[in-house]
Amino acid sequence: MRTQVAIIGAGPAGLLLSHLLHLRGIASVVLELRDRAYAEGRVRAGVLEQGTVDTLIDAGVGDRMLREGMPHHGIELRYGGRSHRIAFEELVPGRAITVYGQQEVVKDLIAARLRDGGDLRFEVDDVAVHDLATEHPYVTFGGERLDCDFIAGCDGFHGVSRPSIPDGVLTEYRREYPFAWLGVLARVKPSSQELIYARTDRGFALHSMRSPEISRFYLQVPPDEDLANWPDERIWAELKTRLETIPGFNLATGPILDKSITPMRAYVAEPMRYGRLYLAGDAAHIVPPTGAKGLNLAVADVRLLTDALALWYTTGSATSLDGYSEACLKRVWRAQHFSWWMTTLLHTFDSDDPYGRRLQLSHLDQVTSSRAAATTLAENYVGIPYESAP
Ligand code: FAD
Ligand code: DHB
Repeated sequence: MRTQVAIIGAGPAGLLLSHLLHLRGIASVVLELRDRAYAEGRVRAGVLEQGTVDTLIDAGVGDRMLREGMPHHGIELRYGGRSHRIAFEELVPGRAITVYGQQEVVKDLIAARLRDGGDLRFEVDDVAVHDLATEHPYVTFGGERLDCDFIAGCDGFHGVSRPSIPDGVLTEYRREYPFAWLGVLARVKPSSQELIYARTDRGFALHSMRSPEISRFYLQVPPDEDLANWPDERIWAELKTRLETIPGFNLATGPILDKSITPMRAYVAEPMRYGRLYLAGDAAHIVPPTGAKGLNLAVADVRLLTDALALWYTTGSATSLDGYSEACLKRVWRAQHFSWWMTTLLHTFDSDDPYGRRLQLSHLDQVTSSRAAATTLAENYVGIPYESAP
């Protein structure tokens, strides 16, 4: 079997890449380990940057997002018994975010690929990549062989692509945070119109949403926390303690539909390429979720990879492919810094002494009182402009 681009992983990166390549007339096959229901049901990110929204609309896969997604023009920072709004419409006019679940993006992309006759293979075992440093790489899976011009490693942080790169090629950067997030999806009307990022002495809490009937929450918990320690009543009690900190705010509760624990860590592999293997999305980098950047970075990577591959197929020029990693990494490192900054601003660290806690509160006071500092938050949160391919 042969295709032009073999794509490993049907997460947002792999699916969007396959769709964008199709729009440029480039064929691909997507190989996914899990089944379709799993890929479509996995509850993860929810905040789409303006650029991600525009990318999906321009690619013709934004219709349901435009109908059901929830545009937001600000977020709330809550601490010290008060709430402060970061007003995007004033600080970064014309730019906003849209709350629309990652699994909805994945559903829309799978539907578009299948409608267009795309070759998506689910439940594919034993994917392995070969001859990466030659002009004839290939992928094997479940006893089959897929020959191709290029391989896109879009298989997330735990995939096979990155570990297939020989030792000594990649420089890896890592940071582990001393806490995790407990993510909760609940059938209850959101208690706030906008996202609330709350800093309390008991830890961070985030109130987000998915629709007028479904709310999404996150709680800072210890790094090795066991979900069994979090029966529903405890989750609601803790969310109330951390969010009901301003007069008149009451958190509505309801049935919990999904809960999971995500470790908080940062990782970057450089370069995002080895021979004819190109890494995109979580396969190359992950951020702590406080800045809501993971999914958005995956979209930025595959935009650049699409342009670079299209240039190669139309002119034979490898200039953009050669510049792919460097172009991606500029945005990746900006997102790494912003995600670290938001995480440090809002979480409690056991290592913090009283001095450290006062510094954190002073930092929050600056972000909520200085227009310059608030603008820095806003412009990173809604997303910086895209790099163009070199
Ligand atoms: P993924 O979505 O991980 O997709 C990779 C795909 O590759 C998966 O479908 C996987 O099954 C498949 N795969 C893996 N190994 C193989 C293999 N060997 N062969 C074939 N296929 C394979 N970001 C936020 O901004 N906010 C959040 O709240 C948030 N929550 C998260 C919670 C969790 C539990 C995780 C893991 C991530 C979260 N993220 C969050 C990050 C965000 O979801 C990711 O950045 C985003 O999913 C990246 O997309 P991707 O396509 O690169 O990778
Ligand atoms: C959501 C996730 C995030 O990481 C974040 O910073 C904001 C919202 C969400 O899942 O809705």
